[in-house]
Amino acid sequence: MATATKKAPAKKAAKAVAKAAAQASAKPAAKNGAHKNGTQTNGVHTNGAAKSTGIPPKKGKGTFSEVAGKYCVRDISQAEEGRKLIQWAESRMPVLMHIRDKYKKSQPLKGLRLAGSLHVTKETAVLVETFAALGAEVSWSGCNPLSTNDPVAAALAKGGISIFAWYGNHEDFYWCIERTIDLKPNLTLDDGCDLINTVHEKYADYARKEVIGGTEETTTGVQRLRARAAAGKLYYPVYAVNDAITKWDFDNVYGTGQSTLDGILRATSVMFAGKKFVVAGHGHCGQGVAKRASGMGANIIITEVKATSAIKGVLEGYRVMSMDDAAKEGDIFCTATGVKDIIRKKHFLSMKDGAIVCNTGHYDAEINLKELEEVSKGKRTIRPNCEEYTLKNGNKIYVLAEGRLVNLAAAEGHPSEVMDMSFSNQLMCHLALAKAYKEGKKLPNQVLDIDPEQDEFIAETKLRTMGMSMDKLSKEQLAYINDYNAGT
Ligand SMILES: NC(=O)c1ccc[n+]([C@@H]2O[C@H](COP(=O)([O-])OP(=O)(O)OC[C@H]3O[C@@H](n4cnc5c(N)ncnc54)[C@H](O)[C@@H]3O)[C@@H](O)[C@H]2O)c1
Repeated sequence: MATATKKAPAKKAAKAVAKAAAQASAKPAAKNGAHKNGTQTNGVHTNGAAKSTGIPPKKGKGTFSEVAGKYCVRDISQAEEGRKLIQWAESRMPVLMHIRDKYKKSQPLKGLRLAGSLHVTKETAVLVETFAALGAEVSWSGCNPLSTNDPVAAALAKGGISIFAWYGNHEDFYWCIERTIDLKPNLTLDDGCDLINTVHEKYADYARKEVIGGTEETTTGVQRLRARAAAGKLYYPVYAVNDAITKWDFDNVYGTGQSTLDGILRATSVMFAGKKFVVAGHGHCGQGVAKRASGMGANIIITEVKATSAIKGVLEGYRVMSMDDAAKEGDIFCTATGVKDIIRKKHFLSMKDGAIVCNTGHYDAEINLKELEEVSKGKRTIRPNCEEYTLKNGNKIYVLAEGRLVNLAAAEGHPSEVMDMSFSNQLMCHLALAKAYKEGKKLPNQVLDIDPEQDEFIAETKLRTMGMSMDKLSKEQLAYINDYNAGT
């Protein structure tokens, strides 16, 4: 999914944002409660209502619950179901809830407007409502067409959050992002850089002058940001939340490991034991997927381009080979590289009849479905999130969740317990941005590293909430570590 945003002249862009903001401030989002009036049309497609406010119409078909300029979700009547899911997540996110409690009185985000583009899951909802509880005005969109939990989106909308997101949002992905920019944010939160890209490419002047800073959640997004910064085109500071130890080494490994298998199981219900399970990319996510699939009795094959990642696979007891070779052997394939065209035409042609193919990397670029179409004579949906392609050679190949991240599209994403740490990082980075701004400090327009103390605080708090204790270095041990003369 490429970001197809066209560059607009700075003046025109600033004008567009100003106009949108005027509309937004004329009809501010309701806070702390249900919207009392407006053009809410539960179950009715409401492009007409949007037209009268100057908001461009959506392309998506189907029914929506919409209050123009405030929210657009699939069905607001699912709010109660979503609220229970959010409460379930809250009870498993003690670190985030602890930070919420600590700051809710002092309202450190008061006066700030935060736009986010991140999978609308029950865990994300806990983060969004934490931002609101700490005083921010929040607007939100999903960051993948297939990762919004509709009841959760409905609950957020009903609770007064400005949210534009629904499952299956292929056509209006950027429409939703644009609606969150209507809020005129001065903080942005991304998962994959689609919001940051839109702000930078369409509203560059606004990005330079009005946005205090942002955060990025995932590996692919951080890579995009570093490329932008290297080109001198990053207009505000952005924390690389992904790179926190308490994010990258836990969420990507254990979260992706468990939830990817969950997604594959929900979409196929196959047995893993005895299967040849090919993991493309043995980085953080790939290690988690391989570890969990191996734990369920699958025989793991790793494909890699980096020798250090490959050798880690060998020492785990896996086989490592090229995708050309793995394609002939695998029963289940899962890509986790963040790179495009990992599985291509020649691989589909050499796969076994019945092979299952899925992806857990950020974008749907890893499996080349266009080339699969070219060598297929037909396809049908055989189960939810499972497409059966019949190749011209007669073989069948099963593609899960349109090649989009299978753990979010076919399951519920990562467990709350691990998102507790990732989202505590998100929150603390935004608190740091707000603090710097309120103290008049200008952070550099760079990709910012996470403060190691933040990592340590989150890990310690997590451990404590898990009922675990640790040892402390004694004075003597500390002196010993720092003694360059200490030997045998
Ligand atoms: N599904 C999810 O919920 C979820 C969660 C976190 C991250 N992600 C995404 O997953 C992807 C991987 O993230 P990560 O943190 O594991 O990154 P990582 O950098 O730790 O690992 C990626 C690995 O892929 C390997 N690789 C690159 N090109 C390859 C190729 N052509 N063939 C085989 N291997 C190749 C790299 O050498 C590296 O070892 C990213 O797109 C990230 O944004 C998804």
